[in-house]
Amino acid sequence: MGLTLLATTYTAYAQDSAAVARGKAKFDHSCAPCHGKGAGDDGRESLPGTYSLKIKYGETLPAALEDRTDLTSEVISVFVRMGAWSMPPFRKTELSDAEIDDIAAYFAVSSRAGN
Ligand code: HEC
Repeated sequence: MGLTLLATTYTAYAQDSAAVARGKAKFDHSCAPCHGKGAGDDGRESLPGTYSLKIKYGETLPAALEDRTDLTSEVISVFVRMGAWSMPPFRKTELSDAEIDDIAAYFAVSSRAGN
């Protein structure tokens, strides 16, 4: 215990919150147009990613990615690199592995906050 541990813990926390902030910004820019929680521009009840996942999982998992607790970087990478149905694949030049880690860090916080 002592100051070193405290400083290390604080640094880890500061890095985490920076990752969460970057992840949220990236999600808002690249993912929320399909995976956000609001209604679509076309007046549909929800956006295409959110809508598809609602059909896919029904009541078993939340339709909004921000509410999921099971999405690790590894799982996100599979879908993001391969694409899924109408979701396009993202190349590493468009979305780096580090940015996927940031998005996973954001989901970990957003799902806990329940918002
Ligand atoms: C053009 C719309 C679109 C964009 C942009 C998009 N997605 Fe998707 N995404 C979808 C659709 C539609 C599905 C559902 C495919 C299906 O029904 O299996 C999906 C599925 C997924 C899944 C699979 C979830 C599961 O359990 O099956 C993940 C993870 C995911 N998207 C993450 C992301 C991330 C992260 C981004 C941003 C980097 C993103 N998506 C951007 C449309 C999109």
